[in-house]
Amino acid sequence: MYAEKVLSGMRPTGRLHLGHYHGVLANWVKLQHEFPCLFFVADWHALTTAYDEPGTITDNAMEMVIDWLAAGVDPSQATIFIQSKVPEHAELHLLLSMMTPLGWLERVPTYKDQQEKLTHKDLTTYGFLGYPLLQAADILIYRANQVPVGEDQVPHVEFTREIARRFNHLYGREPGFEDKAREAVKKLGSKRAKLYDELRNRYQEKGESEALDQAHELLNEAQSLSHGDRERLFGWLEGTRKMILVEPDALLTEASRMPGLDGQKMSKSYGNTITLREDADTVTKKIRTMQTDPARVRRTDAGDPEKCPVWQFHVIYSNEEVKTWVQAGCRSAGIGCIECKQPVIDAVLREQEPMRERAQMYVDDPQLVRNIIADGCEKARKLAQDTMRDVRDAIGLSYP
Ligand code: TRP
Ligand code: SF4
Repeated sequence: MYAEKVLSGMRPTGRLHLGHYHGVLANWVKLQHEFPCLFFVADWHALTTAYDEPGTITDNAMEMVIDWLAAGVDPSQATIFIQSKVPEHAELHLLLSMMTPLGWLERVPTYKDQQEKLTHKDLTTYGFLGYPLLQAADILIYRANQVPVGEDQVPHVEFTREIARRFNHLYGREPGFEDKAREAVKKLGSKRAKLYDELRNRYQEKGESEALDQAHELLNEAQSLSHGDRERLFGWLEGTRKMILVEPDALLTEASRMPGLDGQKMSKSYGNTITLREDADTVTKKIRTMQTDPARVRRTDAGDPEKCPVWQFHVIYSNEEVKTWVQAGCRSAGIGCIECKQPVIDAVLREQEPMRERAQMYVDDPQLVRNIIADGCEKARKLAQDTMRDVRDAIGLSYP
């Protein structure tokens, strides 16, 4: 129930590009081999800012899932689903909203930032204020403990931790908790019970976080515990309440080093992207027409790679030999810019080839994508329903 689990989501805002690949997607592909992973399309989150133009959300969602699959996210390893198809997220969001102080939401830094940035839109809405709470529901409903996100999303994960703590504090209370917890320890069997007590002491008295990790592992391996006892034993390790929701950690995704065609960060709003599945001719043309060091007006003028966006592509894509060739050739005017760009063109095309191939299958037969999503939604929904049962129980909203 509280074992390692990774969850992350993306808003369906348009075609993904190589910046997304080198930043986020390559990381997802790696994680799916290491942990159970859930990756979802945050279409409700898209609606918080696109409520007046929702027309492209579903198309973007489908295209984005194809981009994920193209990048190598493997539906037999990771669960891929769509937020709005798991309506339990909305129920948890609502229940959490009852205990969320307004001030907590107003203080989340992205709230004011985005409002100031997107001035053409009225974002003084209830939904937009609740954006981080909806995100908290996304995470907590799967009891995910690892959330791979970029730097900008760290405050949202922090906020999620606070919400989980508040929820457990409010609803993890029960009369006779200590006695019930001690009883539950006994149910672990004498050997495990002894180890549990020992680990709990080490954590509580000496603050050894390894002891806490080990205790979590021990509980995850104890199959026969009831839900209630499990919540008690997880909670008893750290305090005097049941732990119903799990505090997640942000798994910081290294910022993408991917430069755009103009040397600035690759981003749709700068119009300097190469999309994940861009066709080979367009890619070739885009790189061929890239700006180079402005000092190289004529072929015979020497240049400086440090002043050239093409060099930044070499840094990512080329081996030492090619990089040495560029440095020497540019500074001595020994090579021309077109010549210099060719290895970059080749490398980008080589990187994209398997992506284009994988995507083709899904473009040709969209039913495959729909099946993957339907499968993922069903799996996700089961997990979400389990948590919601516990949440309703804890709050006292379960009807006989
Ligand atoms: N807010 C995230 C973003 O803009 C998307 C998101 C929604 C998300 N729910 C999430 C990310 C849950 C991680 C976990 O990138
Ligand atoms: Fe840029 Fe290469 Fe031309 Fe030098 S030779 S200016 S690094 S493209």
